[in-house]
Amino acid sequence: MKKCFALAGLIGCLICQGQTTQTPIAIIPEPVSVIAGAGYFTLPQNIVISADVQPAMKEVTGLLKERLTQSTGRTVTVLPAAKDAPISLLLNTADDNALGNEGYRLSVSAKSIVVRANKPAGLFYGVQSLLQLFPKEIESATVARNANWIVPCVEIMDKPRFGWRGLMFDVARHFFTKAEVKQFIDDMVRYKYNLLHLHLTDDEGWRLEIKGFPRLTSIGAWNVKKEGYFGTFSAPTADEPRTYGGFYTQEDIKELVQYAKDRFVNILPEIDVPGHSLAAVVSYPVLSGTPEANTYRVRSGEEIMDWSHGAPPIALVDNTLSPANEKVYDFLDKIIAQVAQLFPFEYIHLGGDECPKNYWEKNEAIKQLMQKEGLKNMEEVQSYFEKRLEKIVASKGKKLMGWDEILEGGLAPGAAVMSWRGIKGGIEAAKQKHEVVMSPTTYAYLDYMQADGITEPRVYASLRLNKTYEFEPLPDGVDPAYIKGGQANLWTEQVYNYRYLQYMLWPRAFAIAESVWSPKEKKNWTHFFAKVEKQFERFDIAEKKYSPGVYDPIFTAKLTAGNELRIELGKEVAEMDIYYSFDNTFPDYFYPKYTTALIPPKDAVMLKVVTYKGKKQVGRMIAMPLSELRSRAEKKK
Ligand code: ACM
Repeated sequence: MKKCFALAGLIGCLICQGQTTQTPIAIIPEPVSVIAGAGYFTLPQNIVISADVQPAMKEVTGLLKERLTQSTGRTVTVLPAAKDAPISLLLNTADDNALGNEGYRLSVSAKSIVVRANKPAGLFYGVQSLLQLFPKEIESATVARNANWIVPCVEIMDKPRFGWRGLMFDVARHFFTKAEVKQFIDDMVRYKYNLLHLHLTDDEGWRLEIKGFPRLTSIGAWNVKKEGYFGTFSAPTADEPRTYGGFYTQEDIKELVQYAKDRFVNILPEIDVPGHSLAAVVSYPVLSGTPEANTYRVRSGEEIMDWSHGAPPIALVDNTLSPANEKVYDFLDKIIAQVAQLFPFEYIHLGGDECPKNYWEKNEAIKQLMQKEGLKNMEEVQSYFEKRLEKIVASKGKKLMGWDEILEGGLAPGAAVMSWRGIKGGIEAAKQKHEVVMSPTTYAYLDYMQADGITEPRVYASLRLNKTYEFEPLPDGVDPAYIKGGQANLWTEQVYNYRYLQYMLWPRAFAIAESVWSPKEKKNWTHFFAKVEKQFERFDIAEKKYSPGVYDPIFTAKLTAGNELRIELGKEVAEMDIYYSFDNTFPDYFYPKYTTALIPPKDAVMLKVVTYKGKKQVGRMIAMPLSELRSRAEKKK
């Protein structure tokens, strides 16, 4: 039996019993320190895990036991302080100062696997890393008989860079069931995310039971099912059934909060006001400053905003709560009180984004409010609203968080800012000594397309994996004390089901995980992408969806001085080849290989491209009409 190992942090290989077995040290997010050893640990037939049995350890031991049992079919027993156990999960009796609350040390030798941490959360993350060291068959839901159950010897020390490692899940645009939210939590913790931001309300649905306001969920949670391009749907007719949607009861929320807590995840609830509030307005039109609000319906994806003039948008229906209506503050006080009870997390997110002001400008009560309060413009009106909300939130013992629009017109004292329109809002808020979470569209918007729009379901912007990987939550010159961390946002206007949700999350959420967990200096695109490909193999076994968009070429079209179309094909993945045709047939690796910019033959109408690694097709067959490329080139002129 011969062994060879790569250096720390590289993908290793093992020649074992005449066959090659991959034993990668390919952990996402990249740990602080990885020192690969020689040899490997072989999983015994009877697996004993020695672990503390305190309640907070239930998920830690349960996770390892479940995953080992289902994929290996071997007997797994968890025992407190078992002597000579092959696997030990140990809580330090004296704090290891290098680790903090979420760090761990993982030691794999030929004889044993030992994970040590100060807190159960650290052991949980240590187990997540350990699971990534097992062969990919660990992902199998049934016993993988041909797997070679070995783990490479290694010493790992690890802890997170940021305490806030978030993913935002928009359950308002499309409703996702309680079971799907649990699945989301299970998926995110594998990559050491610890914050689930639930976007619970929007124009398309109100998803949270509120006692005393039954119409929020009897009316506000339902719209008409439409498919196609969200934002352009026809307005529903009166006879179309409003049966699409759903909501979480307060009992559901308690269950989700506990489920998340068991997995060391906090849930940040978002009630998005004063804009994005059509579902609330339709349920209780009295909250609107616009009389015809009583004719409105919960949005089913029809156009309700005119974005052609930029932000803030011009509303075609008034989807706002009126800042000049005392009933609104009473309503929000009661809602915030219940939200504060349901969600133990210290922050409540109250939106504040993209609030159109055109209806407010015409509203007499708002004009009077401006006079009374000395408010000079609509930004100050919104700021007045946010400041009142901040007091309500504080009265419930919580802190207000909002999107960066809450900076406009003056930030409420104590408010924390989630910076989404780039990082400048976050920088400004940190300068003003407010807490900040960075989630800029430029790097962290997972609803954007991840490859060319000719293939991807159409969204108005793109964000490819390599750009996501550049996400840096802490800008130069900003006091790190105010930057709590970062998160990626998954808006679901165009996400109709959980399979597609997975496609949008992965692999980009791997990149964000590394940006919020790993030391900045450990980030390395080539190494990261090699690990992503290992994850793809695991996802295939787990039957989870992911986007192969990273393998699609990047089209750049220009016009030459002679008005000829000149096409460049770029790539995110260095080690792949692009093959193409102009004759409408399907290229493979026997076709011309792209090496330099292309000028299409005179009568050609279509460029077809596909990518390969060696003889293995990795990208999708893309049919790009030359008329589309010409039109892009002309727009650029
Ligand atoms: C946002 O994307 N409107 C926060």
